[in-house]
Amino acid sequence: MSRNEQTFITLNDNTQIPQFGLGVYQVPEGPDTVNAVAEALKMGIRHIDTAHAYQNERSVGKAVKESGIEREEIWITTKLWPHEYGEGKTMKAIDQMLERLDTEYIDLLLLHQQFGDYLGAWKDMEKAVELGKVRSIGISNFESNRLEELCEAATIKPSVLQVECHPYFQQGALKKRIEKYGTVIESWYPLGHGDKNLIQEPLFTQLGKKYNKSNVQIILRWHIQEGIIVFPRTTNPSHMKDNFDIFDFALTEEEMNQIRGLDNGKRFYNVSLEDQEKTLGAWHPAN
Ligand SMILES: NC(=O)c1ccc[n+]([C@@H]2O[C@H](COP(=O)([O-])OP(=O)(O)OC[C@H]3O[C@@H](n4cnc5c(N)ncnc54)[C@H](OP(=O)(O)O)[C@@H]3O)[C@@H](O)[C@H]2O)c1
Repeated sequence: MSRNEQTFITLNDNTQIPQFGLGVYQVPEGPDTVNAVAEALKMGIRHIDTAHAYQNERSVGKAVKESGIEREEIWITTKLWPHEYGEGKTMKAIDQMLERLDTEYIDLLLLHQQFGDYLGAWKDMEKAVELGKVRSIGISNFESNRLEELCEAATIKPSVLQVECHPYFQQGALKKRIEKYGTVIESWYPLGHGDKNLIQEPLFTQLGKKYNKSNVQIILRWHIQEGIIVFPRTTNPSHMKDNFDIFDFALTEEEMNQIRGLDNGKRFYNVSLEDQEKTLGAWHPAN
């Protein structure tokens, strides 16, 4: 296998998403984001995960345009913030996103948080699919019973559910809840937000030695073989190159099971829905 053999997942709406991408959370708008996205595209990565809340969509759009790569070859995911939720309101927010990203369409549009008028927003997102402004729609952070509420109300079922997911918190129960909708998990904090204890787990060191790979590469390979969509964040070109270099080896089923055994229910972001609603709901992106 070579880098060119990166894997794709067919979503429940028949679109094909590159399973590996680059996340740009906490990467500042301007040269940092432009350079990181440009570097990723240069090495063959074809999937970028941004959000209105990250306030770097303009830089993502600029790097995509300047790359000279056909737009159809690149997958762009972005996310609506709750202050943009509501029938009519969300369509306007989508039009503004298209402008910021300087593109004709968004590949995957997510509801970033599970509060606000998410049902109203979803109706506009479905309309945006009909109008060709968006190809695929999904949700993020819906882990309460609002997940089922939205999925049952939806005409177009969410293609993905983006949540915290890594070897310490593998989301087994959530996966079962979304199976019937054909929804798949996208992992945020795939490396535990860079947590040293997770990365330095002796099992990853041992497997790394066997495959001549780093601990991070073992973790990312585990995500891939679990069928999870993954987009670790880094602006370090050498880390980025390593992260993408995981398509030339495969963990055995026994090794996959050993990693499954590391699940200890530890979240790195552990804030109650009530507190999220209070703090995140009071904030919104400046532009
Ligand atoms: N929907 C949501 O609410 C939500 C929430 C959080 C994140 N996300 C998405 O998920 C993406 C990933 O999450 P994240 O960025 O917070 O966490 P992450 O990808 O788990 O971890 C990022 C950290 O890992 C380090 N790292 C990356 N590659 C490495 C390597 N090869 N070797 C050593 N360290 C490495 C990075 O440091 P260096 O920069 O030094 O490489 C950085 O500190 C985000 O960018 C965003 O797109 C979504």
